[in-house]
Formats: sequence, C-alpha cells, structure tokens
Amino acid sequence: MKRSGENGRMSSRLTRRAVLAAIAGPATAAAAESGSLAAAARAGGRAFGSAFDREVLTDAAYGRLIGRECAWGTVENSLKFDWLRPRGPAADFAAADRVVEAGRALGLRLTGAALVWNDWVPPWVGRLSRAEIGALLDRHVTEVVSRYRGRVAEWHVVNEPFYPPQNRPGGFRQGAWFDALGEAHIERAFRRAAAADPQARLVLNEAFCEQDDALGRAIRPRLLALVDRLLAAGAPLHAVGFQAHLKPHLPYDDAGFADYVGQVAARGVAVQITELDVDDSHLPDDVPSRDAIVAQRCGDFLRAVMAVPALDRVSVWHLSDRYSWYAHAPWYATAVRAHGGRPDRPVRSHLYDAALGAKPAREAVARALLTRGPRR
Ligand code: XIL
Repeated sequence: MKRSGENGRMSSRLTRRAVLAAIAGPATAAAAESGSLAAAARAGGRAFGSAFDREVLTDAAYGRLIGRECAWGTVENSLKFDWLRPRGPAADFAAADRVVEAGRALGLRLTGAALVWNDWVPPWVGRLSRAEIGALLDRHVTEVVSRYRGRVAEWHVVNEPFYPPQNRPGGFRQGAWFDALGEAHIERAFRRAAAADPQARLVLNEAFCEQDDALGRAIRPRLLALVDRLLAAGAPLHAVGFQAHLKPHLPYDDAGFADYVGQVAARGVAVQITELDVDDSHLPDDVPSRDAIVAQRCGDFLRAVMAVPALDRVSVWHLSDRYSWYAHAPWYATAVRAHGGRPDRPVRSHLYDAALGAKPAREAVARALLTRGPRR
C-alpha cells in the first residue's frame, strides 16, 4: 500500500493512546516498557544501537542513557575522513581515540562511520593526482582500521555510493574518490579494510532506499547490482546498511521496502537499519501531533523490516533530540519555514526529547522490536 503526507495529516489527529494501540497489542506493552531497547531487540535475536560522539565525554546523563538502551554505538563523526584529516594527509586521532574509549566504557560494541564517503571530502584532496588519491584511500583505510582493530568491531566501509541526480556514470555519487578512481574505489576500500582487520564486520551503507519515489526507485536496483558485483568479485562485504532517515512527507511503501531488503539479504549478506530517525521538517509545530506521527512512522517502518530474517541490527542516528543532526543540517531550517513551521521550534525527530524524556517513538520502536519476524 502506498502512503504519503496525506496519511501524515490523518495521523496528526491521533492521540498518543491510539498510536500505541495501533502499534502493538497489550501483550508486548509491558515488556516494552520494562526493558531496554537493547533487551527488546535481543528478544528477537537482533541488536539495537545508536550513533554517539564527543558529547558523551561531557554529558554523563546522555552517556548513561546510551549505555542503558544500546548494545552497539556508531561513532557519528569523529572517525570520518574530514574529521581526522581536515587539512592534509596526516591524521589527528586524539578526539577519535577519546570517543572510542568512551563508547567502550559505556559497554557498547562499536561501529565506525564512515571510511569512504564522496560527500564531505576536504578540498585539499581535490588537488591531488589520481594516483595520489588512490594511495590516500589505501592509507586512510589501513591506518584507521588497524588503529582500532579489536576495539571497533564493524565499519561502514563505503557510505552512500549512489546519488543518481548527479548524473554520474552508473548513478554513483560524485566526489573525489569516485571522480579519481571510479567504481573500483569501492571494492578497493573493502579489500583494504579486511586486510587491516580480518575480524571486522564490513558494511556497505546506503541512503534513500526506503523512499518509494524516483530517488529510492533509482537507487535500489543499482545497489543490488553493486552488491552482486562485489560478491562475484569475492570482495569482503558482510552486510548492507539502510540508513532510514524517514521522510513521512514523501511516498513510501514499507512492505515493498522490506521485500527489497529481503532481495539484498538473499545474496547472502546481513542487512541492517543503520541511521533510523524521522525528518519532521514538514510536520506540524504542535508537539503532541508531531510526536504521534514520528512514533507511528517509526513503528510502521520497523515492524515491516523486522519481517526480514537477515536483519540483525537496528540503530538510530542519536537517541535524543538534544543531539539531533537535523538541528545543524543547513537545509532543515529552510524546510521547516517552507512548510509553515516556526523557525525556532525544537526538532522532534528522535526517541527521547531534549530533556532526555522518552517520547511515544521510543515505545513504538520498543514494541516493533518485540513484534519480530523470523530471525535467520
Ligand atoms: C551527519 C552527522 O550527523 C552530522 O553531524 C555531520 O555534520 C554530517 O554527517 N547520512 C549519513 C551520516 O550517512 O553520516 C550523516 O551524519 C547523516 C546522513
């Protein structure tokens, strides 16, 4: 069934109780409320995680919340190329080291995001020759993965390989790595990462696939074909991640997306939801209405993907509105304004509010994690 923003407007009239009733029956409600999200996911043979970064070095309450709710943590930024090497090839690992240690101290298993991403490549890379860019990719992957071997269990090796609107050959995302090395940079990064840490779990992470619009429909077959090519070449690809920054104002089809995720998994890789949250920029200012829509969207989406046996992880892109990336994304405030929202209104995209209070979306996610499908 196709849905769109029309559905969002209907949802805005639902009460919190109605949303919860729609999300799960009373049998799972008690379990959802008593346990952590990690426990709810574990009950279904899955794992739950969140992005985190240097805020946990100073915000002990947020650190405790992440430690309580999550089994896994994804380092949001500190391990990214532009954060490690903003001005030249020599990396500064000081902040990343502290964040990795903080995550371990919270009891999290760690994912590093993202070794290779054609967005956010610092300008100095663009001044290098092709051969130098190839050598830089090798050096970056090898240095970062071997430094954290045994501490970071999993890497998003390549992030967002496709962005067809840029009209590059194959629909690949434009950027220094692709422009210099073509598609081959992807397999090269996976092989380098495996050589640096043979135990690490290596993930190909992609955006927009959950959208049933031109963008989502353009990326899905390209990603599937890339997975096929990588596996046929014997590349060490272990899992495919789907970001799932849900956009309730765009068309979506959760059952169709779950089918697609199943097709990817049928290639013999694990599948993950890696960055779940809801872009609330088009939703009404009214907080209870917005929270109800966000909760319903998360719950509907997760329940559908939980039916895929190979799904082994659900991670959110921060647990709380306090550290929402939307608040700093340049396009977000513009989108709020363009859809009639007050520019100073708080972001309500995540499971906990800025005061670290649980919102309806937290319960919706807990229930969805419990209403699992079969686990492979
Ligand atoms: C975002 C971070 O959350 C921001 O703090 C940073 O400024 C830019 O990157 N998809 C991704 C993530 O793959 O790496 C992005 O993270 C959010 C969208």
